[in-house]
Amino acid sequence: MQLLHATAEAAPFAKTGGLADVLGALPTAQAAAGHAVLVVHPWYATLRADPAPYWIGDVAVPFDGGEVTVGVGTLDVPAGDGVVRFAFVGHDDFRRDALYGYPDDARRFALFARAIPEVAARLGFVPDVVHVHDWHAALVPALVRHAAHLPTVFGRPATVVTVHNAQYQGHADAADVVRWGRLPGALAADLALRGRGNLLHAGLVTADRATTVSPTYAHELLDPAIGYGLEGTFAALGDRLSGILNGLDDVAFDPAHDPALAAPFDADDLTGKARCTSALESEFGLEAGRPILGVVSRFADQKGIDLLFGALPDLLEQGWNLVVLGAGAPDLEAAAARAFADHPGRVGGRVGYDDGLARRIYAGADALAVPSRFEPCGLAQLIAMRYATVPVARATGGLADTIDDGRTGFLFGPATVVGLVEAADRARRTHADRLAWSALRSAAARERFGWARAVASYDALYLALQAERPSPQGGRP
Ligand code: ADP
Ligand code: GLC
Repeated sequence: MQLLHATAEAAPFAKTGGLADVLGALPTAQAAAGHAVLVVHPWYATLRADPAPYWIGDVAVPFDGGEVTVGVGTLDVPAGDGVVRFAFVGHDDFRRDALYGYPDDARRFALFARAIPEVAARLGFVPDVVHVHDWHAALVPALVRHAAHLPTVFGRPATVVTVHNAQYQGHADAADVVRWGRLPGALAADLALRGRGNLLHAGLVTADRATTVSPTYAHELLDPAIGYGLEGTFAALGDRLSGILNGLDDVAFDPAHDPALAAPFDADDLTGKARCTSALESEFGLEAGRPILGVVSRFADQKGIDLLFGALPDLLEQGWNLVVLGAGAPDLEAAAARAFADHPGRVGGRVGYDDGLARRIYAGADALAVPSRFEPCGLAQLIAMRYATVPVARATGGLADTIDDGRTGFLFGPATVVGLVEAADRARRTHADRLAWSALRSAAARERFGWARAVASYDALYLALQAERPSPQGGRP
C-alpha cells in the first residue's frame, strides 16, 4: 500500500518526546514490510538531518484566503529492502528556536497540514491511506473529506488519526480553522468543540478511523479527567476508535550497540551494566553501593514529577540514590535543582534535554520511576526494560499494558506520593534479594516490544478501510 504519515516530530530529525520515537520507527517497519511510505514533516531550523534534505523546489499552498509558498526537500532513509521517503516542508514559520510553544502554533501547523496534499502531489505520491499524528496534522482528514480544491492526483485516500496525547489539541477560533483550510464556512461549527476551534477534534470527527497508542488509554479517554474535554468526541467514535500499542525500535535502543554507554551489555550478560552504573555514580558523585532510581521525563503535569519530589525524603530514607533528567515546567525544574543542591552524593542529574545522558541513565540505573497521572503509551518504560532497568510506574495507559507487576516491574494505583513511596518500597525490598532482583530485571530485559505486532494491527486497519472504499464503478458518494 501507499502510506502517507504526517507528523510534527520524527527521530532523529526532531524530537521532544515519544512521538518522535514512534515516527522514527513505525514508517521504517512498514516500509521494510513492503509498503511505500512517505513521511511529511516540518523543516524546522533545528532539523537534525545529515545529509541535508535534497531540495525539490517550491510548492504553492492555498491557505487562509490566499496562497503561501513552501519549500520542499526530501531524504530517503533505508528500511530493510525498502526506503522511507521523508518530505520536509519549509516555511519561515518553522524557522524558530523551538518546535512548539508559540502563540500562533495552531496557524503554523494548519499551514503544515494544508501543504500536505500539495506536497504529496508534487512528489507524485498517491496515498491509499493518510495517517496523521496528533493535532498538528489533524486538519488533513477534514481537507480530504471537505476541501473543494485538493490536487486531483491526490485522490480520496482513507484517513486515520492517531492520538498520542489528547491533552494537546490545537485551539483556535472556529472561523480561523475553516478559513485556513479553505473549507466551507458552514463547517466551522462541526469542526469546533463547544464553539471553539479545535484541530484534534476536527480530525477525530472527519477521519475514517481513530487510534491511540495503547488499549487502556483508548478506554481511559472516555473519562473526563483524561479526555481533556474530548471525552464526548471519543465516545461518539464508538468502535471507530481503537488502541494499538506502540513498539520500541530495538535497533535505536540496544544496550549491546549503544555508543553512549560506558560498556555494552545484553539480557544474557549484564556484566557491562555494572560498569554503566559505576560510570553514572562517578558522573554525579553519588555514593556507591546504593540502588539508583532514575527519572527521564518531560516535566509536565502529566508525568507526576511533583509526586516524585514529594516522595524524595522517603525515597532517600528507603536507601535509593536518584538521578533525574528532565525539563519543562519552571517550578519542577527549580525543585530538581534544589534536590541536586540539597542532597549531594544522593541525588544527581541535570535540568535539560540530553539524549546521551538519558541513555546513560536507562543503562546505569536499577529502576526507573514513571509516576505519570496518565500515559498514552510511554516509551521511557520500554527503553528502561530493554536496558534491564525495572520500571516503578503508575498503573495507567500504556504503563499498565506493558509492565507486568511483580514480574517485570512495579505498578501503583493512586496518583499520590504514598502510592509512589509504597511501590518504590516494594522495589527496594526486592532489590535487597539478589536472586529475586536478578530474575526481575532479566525478565524485563527479555520482554520484546518490537514493531511487528503494531505493523500487523495497522495493516489490518488499513485493509478494513480499503474494503470499505467505493469500487471504481461508484457506489459510495
Ligand atoms: P512523552 O512522549 O509523553 O514525553 P514517552 O515516554 O513516550 O513520553 O517518550 C519520551 C521520550 O523522550 C523517550 O525517548 C525519552 O527517553 C525521551 N526524553 C524525555 N525527556 C528527555 C530529556 N530531558 N532528555 C532526553 N530525552 C528525553
Ligand atoms: C505521547 C505520549 C506518550 C507516548 C508517545 C508516543 O507523547 O505522552 O505516552 O508514548 O506520545 O506515542
